[in-house]
Amino acid sequence: MVRKKIGIMTTGGDCSGLNTVVQRIVDGCKLRKWDIVGIKDGTDGLYSVPAKTVDLTNESFQFASSHLAGSILANGNDGAENFESAARAGKLGAFNKKLQKSLKDLNLDALVLIGGNGSLSLAHLYNEIYNGLQLICIPKTIDMDVPLTDRTIGFDTAVQQLVSYCDQLLLTARSHHRWFVVQTMGRDCGNLALHAGVATAADAILIPEIKFDVDNLIKHIKQSKRDYGIIMVSEAISIRGHSGKAADMISRALNNANIPNRTAFPEYIQRAGDTVASDRILAVGFADTALKAIENNETNVMTVLQDGEYKTVSLSDFFAAGKQEKDPHIIGAMTSNRYVEPDDILLQIATDMGIYIGEKRK
Ligand code: F6P
Repeated sequence: MVRKKIGIMTTGGDCSGLNTVVQRIVDGCKLRKWDIVGIKDGTDGLYSVPAKTVDLTNESFQFASSHLAGSILANGNDGAENFESAARAGKLGAFNKKLQKSLKDLNLDALVLIGGNGSLSLAHLYNEIYNGLQLICIPKTIDMDVPLTDRTIGFDTAVQQLVSYCDQLLLTARSHHRWFVVQTMGRDCGNLALHAGVATAADAILIPEIKFDVDNLIKHIKQSKRDYGIIMVSEAISIRGHSGKAADMISRALNNANIPNRTAFPEYIQRAGDTVASDRILAVGFADTALKAIENNETNVMTVLQDGEYKTVSLSDFFAAGKQEKDPHIIGAMTSNRYVEPDDILLQIATDMGIYIGEKRK
């Protein structure tokens, strides 16, 4: 077997499951007698000279703790130089060249890049950074907004975190005969709120992809057989003429209708929590697929799960498959986004089960 040197990095926001992927890639490299080096702090670590690295072969990276959230490699800090700040300063060309040089100096045969749709879109757009090595991407995000894959690392754990959180809220909600408006993360994609809402048997689920009517929501809650429960709202929903946080807007409307309620913001615990079994299986499936892609000399690909099958798709197919929109942070860059589709089976199930999800698919 040809000896190879593999680099691995995590970029963008963290989520649970990253350590499982990293750990399984390390194991797979050991099996193949390949060298592996961790790149610390994502893009920031590559921008540093020399690149910031983590030794993943020593005992500090324990198998027993690979189910813990966060990333052993870290994801970089807010103030660091990155694609966004470089673009703002008009220095993107020089920034990308520096990343390319760092990778060259590391003398890698392949790089496993674990990232969300923003990072993967940039990997496609600024592909010259990875010239001379095999680029294998693994999709992760609690938002589940990456096109072409049925699951992303971290999503199922985030849903579980919300379910556990709502289970607790329901107990106090019942004691006080009040409703909780729970605001989920997810950016512009409603997948997280939809899945968590169905799992917790929320009475209403509001997501950005579906227009809703506040009066109908109130009617629905008033007609409910209970005087407590969960209204799950995705962070990016909007109501014409109103501003503020999604949950606050809905809470105000409920107050005006004399429906006792409180808001709840689970925030970053959605990105935490011990990695659930399905995310660990996904991590192993993606790690195995990534290692095989390296053996098969593939490059510029992303691992995906499609109808139960693990495989790779090209980054250009990933990019073309989503809705291409301006990157909200990086001037001149585009991101490929996925949203809840109108024919999503969970939308139908939620409606059939009497959950209010709004009126019209946008
Ligand atoms: O993309 C993951 C995510 O957690 C979103 O759901 C959320 O809107 C955002 O990141 C929060 O980002 P930050 O870590 O910059 O606050």
